[in-house]
Amino acid sequence: MADKDAPTENNNTSIDSNAQSENDNEMSIDALARKVQESLSLSKRHKFWETQPVGQFKDLGDTNFPEGPIEPPTPISQVKQEPYNLPGPYEWITCDVDSEEVCSEIYTLLTNNYVEDDENMFRFNYSKEFLRWALRPPGYFKSWHIGVRVKTSKKLVAFITGIPAKIRVRDAVVVMAEVNFLCVHKKLRSKRLAPVMIKEVTRRVHLENIWQAAYTAGVVLPTPITTCQYWHRSLNPKKLIDVGFSRLGARMTMSRTIKLYKLPEKTVTPGFRKMEPHDVPAVTRLLKNYLKQFAVAPDFDEDDVEHWLLPRENVMDSFLVESPENHQITDFCSFYTLPSSILGSPNHSTLKAAYSYYNVTTKTHLLQLMNDALIVAKKNEFDVFNALDVMQNETFLKELKFGPGDGKLHYYLYNYRLNHVLKASELGLVLL
Ligand SMILES: CC(C)(COP(=O)(O)OP(=O)(O)OC[C@H]1O[C@@H](n2cnc3c(N)ncnc32)[C@H](O)[C@@H]1OP(=O)(O)O)[C@@H](O)C(=O)NCCC(=O)NCCS
Repeated sequence: MADKDAPTENNNTSIDSNAQSENDNEMSIDALARKVQESLSLSKRHKFWETQPVGQFKDLGDTNFPEGPIEPPTPISQVKQEPYNLPGPYEWITCDVDSEEVCSEIYTLLTNNYVEDDENMFRFNYSKEFLRWALRPPGYFKSWHIGVRVKTSKKLVAFITGIPAKIRVRDAVVVMAEVNFLCVHKKLRSKRLAPVMIKEVTRRVHLENIWQAAYTAGVVLPTPITTCQYWHRSLNPKKLIDVGFSRLGARMTMSRTIKLYKLPEKTVTPGFRKMEPHDVPAVTRLLKNYLKQFAVAPDFDEDDVEHWLLPRENVMDSFLVESPENHQITDFCSFYTLPSSILGSPNHSTLKAAYSYYNVTTKTHLLQLMNDALIVAKKNEFDVFNALDVMQNETFLKELKFGPGDGKLHYYLYNYRLNHVLKASELGLVLL
C-alpha cells in the first residue's frame, strides 16, 4: 500500500515490450514460488492450502492438466450441513450488514485489524457505506457475511465474506464467490483461525451450489493466476511526504515536487460528465465489449453495472464521455474511495485514496481520459490516485506520473486451474 520511494525516482520496472514483460512475469512468479518452497521446511509448507483444490506450486508449469474446475461439484445433500467447529470460547454469527449496529462492529474490527502496509504505517479504513455497497450486490447471500464472536462478551473478533459474481475465464462464464475482508483480530493471530474461516465460507458457498471463488491477497499462496503491482499518482505530494507515504526525490525540493504533480483546474475532454442512472445500458454495452479482450474478467449485466458503477457519495465515482455531436457514450472511467488510517503521524489521521476501477475508451485517448479522472479526483480532495497494472493501465501509468508501489497483489482462483500464469495486463478484474 505504502509507497516509500519517490514515485518518479523508482521507475525501473520493465514494461516496454509485451514479450519481455510476459517472461519477466512468469519467471518472477515461478522463481518466487520456488524460493518460498525452498526456504520452508516441510512442516512449514502450506499445511492448509495444500489440502485445498487450488493450483499447487509443484504443478506450476505442468500443462498436462486440463484448464477448468479441479474438483467436480458434489450433490448439495453431501455438503456438510453444520458449521465447522470453532475453539470453545467463540461462536459463528451471520452478520446483518443492514443493521447499523452490526455494520459499526464490522467497521471497528476492520479499522483496527485489517490490512496494513509492510511497515505498519497505514491501515485500510473501508467506510461503512463502502462495506454495505461491497457486500450487497445483486443476488447477494446474507449467509456469506460471516463473523466470529467471543461467546461471553459478544465481541466481534473475526470476519470473512463472499459475494456472488459471474466471472469469465477465457470462454467459460463461471458463477463464483468473490471472497474478501478476511480479518482476524490482532490478539488472535497465528492460531489457525483463518483456515476455519475459509472452510466455513467455502461450505456456505457450496450450499448455494457454487463451486469456484476468486480472491486476492498480498501474501503468496498456492498459486497466483497473476501478480499485479500498485502504482500511485500523488495528488497532494506535500501531505504524502509529510506522512511518509512518499519521499522527496533526489535533487527535488518541495516546491518543485508540488509543481511536478500540479493538475489543471478543469477536465479537458468535451462531453466528460458524471455517469447517471439512464446511462446504465450504454455503459454496460461499452464495458461488455471492452472486457472481452481479457483472459479473466467479470461478466457484467445491467443490474451489475447499476450496482457497481453508478456514482455513490464517498464510495464510487464514475464519469463518461457523451459525444457533444451525436450524444453517443464513447468512453467511461471510474474509481472507488478507500481511505487509509495513518498510524503514526502527529498531523494527519487519514489518507484519502482513489483506486482506479474500470475504464473503457473507444474515442478518447486513455491517457487523456485518465488525466481527467486525476483532475476530478484532485478537485474532490483525494491525496493519491492508485491503479493496478491490470488491463491497459500500463499505457498511461508512467506518462501520467504514477510511480510503482512496493506492494504486490496476487490474484487467485479456488477450484479452477489455469495452465499459465497470466500477465497483469491479461486480467480484466478488479476486486475491492
Ligand atoms: C489474514 C489473517 C486473517 C490470517 O490470520 P493469521 O492468524 O495470521 O493466520 P492463521 O494462523 O489463522 O492461519 C494461517 C493460514 O492462513 C493462510 N493465510 C494467511 N493469510 C491469508 C490470506 N490473506 N488469504 C488466504 N489465506 C491466508 C496462511 O497461508 C496459512 O495457511 P497455510 O499454512 O496453508 O499457508 C490475519 O493475518 C489478518 O487478519 N491480517 C490482516 C488482514 C489481512 O491481511 N487480511 C487478508 C486480506 S487479503
